[in-house]
Amino acid sequence: MNNLETSTSLSVHFEKLDAALTQYQAYWNFVPFQCSDFPWDNPELTEYLQTLAEQTELEHDEVCQQIAQRFFPELADALEQVDFVHNQLVDDWQKPVPFWLLNGIHGRKITQVQQLSAQIKPKYPLLEWCAGKGHLGRLLSFQHDVAVTSVEWQQGLCEQGTNLAKTYDIKQDFIHADVLKQRAVWLKPQQHVVALHACGDLHVTLLKQAVEAQVEYMHVAPCCYHLIGDEVYPALSQQGKQSSLHIAKSILKLAVQAQVTAGQRVANLRQTEVLWRLAYQLIRADITGDASYQSLPSVKKSWFTGEFVDFVTWGAEHQGFTLPADLDFADYLQRAAIKQKFTQQLEYVRHAFQRALELWLVLDKALFLEQSGYQVEVNYFCPYQTTPRNMMIVAKL
Ligand SMILES: C[S@@+](CC[C@H](N)C(=O)[O-])C[C@H]1O[C@@H](n2cnc3c(N)ncnc32)[C@H](O)[C@@H]1O
Repeated sequence: MNNLETSTSLSVHFEKLDAALTQYQAYWNFVPFQCSDFPWDNPELTEYLQTLAEQTELEHDEVCQQIAQRFFPELADALEQVDFVHNQLVDDWQKPVPFWLLNGIHGRKITQVQQLSAQIKPKYPLLEWCAGKGHLGRLLSFQHDVAVTSVEWQQGLCEQGTNLAKTYDIKQDFIHADVLKQRAVWLKPQQHVVALHACGDLHVTLLKQAVEAQVEYMHVAPCCYHLIGDEVYPALSQQGKQSSLHIAKSILKLAVQAQVTAGQRVANLRQTEVLWRLAYQLIRADITGDASYQSLPSVKKSWFTGEFVDFVTWGAEHQGFTLPADLDFADYLQRAAIKQKFTQQLEYVRHAFQRALELWLVLDKALFLEQSGYQVEVNYFCPYQTTPRNMMIVAKL
């Protein structure tokens, strides 16, 4: 590999991030909704947050950066050194591919798939993990004339992928399987495994089983680190296991909370969601007398284009209490707006730690592979604007 980092390098970077995240834990390792006061004793930071309302010209990311530089020098220092993540963007990713090959791939996914595939030069047959409709596998097979096996849990996606492969005469088969339940007997030493945006336990399972099977090459772009069965993040590497950080599943979400690709509409919906969830908590606390935070499950964003009263009715049914007829919804929304401003201030500070936490999680996996005998790099496979989940682990046995 061209840009191979020495093992010490990945390890040193992990230790730096680990030290900064540990030192400043009070500033990110908490759930904002559960706070009624700032969870730190730092008057200067609190005062800064209160002046933020006046600096309306600042973007969310700029505020987070300012906070890191001004209040958390060790964090800023650890983040500045992440140039160890190689920028692997290749110039020829836009090499024309027949338009029909990209049929059915939406929006930014096209760029992700094209850029990632441009960086993979497979020497062996490919195995595509958690493939969806197998877009990446299809493109790779076409470009390199190589056989691809795509593993996917949703039968419908397997069928659609199989049809696309047949239509375009691509050497791609699908295996319909639940990779969390079935042992991956398809993993073999002389193989190149690719995984684009395999969530939480899906990529962790892949890495563990690929190591056992001694798969020779891997390109893995992880995402959704919080989608795990364990309540606390189970570190994979020696360094991760030795860390004093205990990161609850609810906190892991922070690692994927960057919103550069969200757009204004999604950002507005997110604002409404936060407001409604806060107002709902106030209502629930008043009616049940229980002020402890009880989260409601995630729901489709389309809920938040509807009516607040419907959301509250659903929440009350879900959590088993009855709503009185004379509830003043507008008053609760007003009170929630005050709490929302406070939550936003907490989020600015927490989000200053987002990239550091994500890197910590990626490096834990990279170090695990290194300790299992692989040569490992961490690269960006596409620009951050295309997807904030733009890191990939490249490993070679
Ligand atoms: C975020 S999508 C990524 C899909 C594709 N790689 C892409 O980038 O377009 C994750 C995929 O994992 C699949 N999946 C979820 N759980 C799975 C499981 N237990 N076994 C196999 N696939 C699973 C989902 O159905 C989904 O297609």
